Amino acid sequence: MRARISPQKNYAAGVGPGDVMLGGAIGEVIRSNSPEYKPGDFVVSDLTFGWQDYAVISHSVVRRIDPDLAPLPCWLDFMGLNGLTAYIGLVESGGIRPGDTVLISAAAGSVGQIAGQIAKLTGCRAIAVTSSEEKIARCRELGYDAGINYRTEPDLAAAIAKECPDGIDVFFDNTAGPIHDAVLQNLATHARIIVCGTVALAETFGQPDIGPRFMRQILVARARIEGFLVLDYQHRYVEARTRLAEWNRAGKLQYQYDIADGLENTPNAFLRMLTSKNLGKQLVRVGPEA
Ligand SMILES: NC(=O)c1ccc[n+]([C@@H]2O[C@H](COP(=O)([O-])OP(=O)(O)OC[C@H]3O[C@@H](n4cnc5c(N)ncnc54)[C@H](OP(=O)(O)O)[C@@H]3O)[C@@H](O)[C@H]2O)c1
Repeated sequence: MRARISPQKNYAAGVGPGDVMLGGAIGEVIRSNSPEYKPGDFVVSDLTFGWQDYAVISHSVVRRIDPDLAPLPCWLDFMGLNGLTAYIGLVESGGIRPGDTVLISAAAGSVGQIAGQIAKLTGCRAIAVTSSEEKIARCRELGYDAGINYRTEPDLAAAIAKECPDGIDVFFDNTAGPIHDAVLQNLATHARIIVCGTVALAETFGQPDIGPRFMRQILVARARIEGFLVLDYQHRYVEARTRLAEWNRAGKLQYQYDIADGLENTPNAFLRMLTSKNLGKQLVRVGPEA
C-alpha cells in the first residue's frame, strides 16, 4: 500500500490523487444483482473495497466468508492475504523443512505472527526480529524460540550469530534494510531468502538501497534469494486456506488484532503500522461488527 502511493515503479498500478485508496476489507452485502449473493452475506476482498464505507464492485473480486471456518476478522488475517503470504512464502519460496532455522523480520506483525507459528508447526526453529521487548514477549507466546530487538542490539549481525550459531536456513524478510544486511552475514549453506516486504525502504522513493553488498555470502552459502508475491500463487490459495483452517480448528493457531475505530482514522492506523506501533494485524472498524 505504501508503494502504491509513491510514484516509483511497482508490481501493480499506483493510486493517484483523488482515487480511492486500495485496501482489503470485509463487507456486508446490502444489495446484489448477482444470484450468488443476498443481503446480509459477508464477503471479503483483498484490495478492491478500498478505504470507503460503501463500494459497488463485481462479484468476481469478492469471496464469500464462511464464519464456521473462522471468525470474520480472521479473513483479513490468517485466512486472508497475510496468512496466504506466510504459508505459501514459507512452503513454496522458502521450501521449509523440519529442523530448519527460520528467521522472520517484522515477526510480531500480521504476516510475521502467522509465519512464526507455521515454522513451528512444521518442526523448524523460529527466530523473531522485531522492535521492542513487548513484541518479543508476544512472539515467545506464539512459540518463537528466540527474539532479537533490532533497535537495541548494538551489533545485530553478532546478536543473530549468537542466537543461530549454525546459521539461518530460511530468512523470511518483511523489511529489507539493515535487518536484511545483518541476516545475510549469517546464512547457512543452501539458505533460502524470501523477499516478502521492504518496509524499511518505504521512504527511499526509488533511490538505491545503500547498505553493504553481500554477494560473496550468497556464493559461499550457495544461497537462493527470491522476490515473493503472493498474487502469483492464486492456484495455491485453496490448499493454503484449507491447511490454515485445519490448524485453527485444532486450536493450533493464535491470532491478534490491533483495531482502530472509524474510517477517518485509517490514515493514522496506516502510519502506526509504518512506525512499528501495531501489535498484530492492523484493522480499522468502519461499521458495527456483526
Ligand atoms: N509479497 C507479498 O505478496 C506480500 C503480501 C502481504 C504482505 N506483504 C508484506 O509483508 C510485510 C508485513 O506485512 P503486514 O501486513 O504483516 O504488516 P505488519 O508486519 O503487521 O506491520 C509492519 C511492521 O513492519 C515493521 N517496520 C516498520 N518500519 C520498519 C523499519 N523501518 N524497519 C524494520 N521494520 C519496520 C514494524 O514491525 P517492528 O515492530 O518489528 O518494527 C511494523 O509493525 C510488509 O512489508 C508487507 O508489504 C507482502
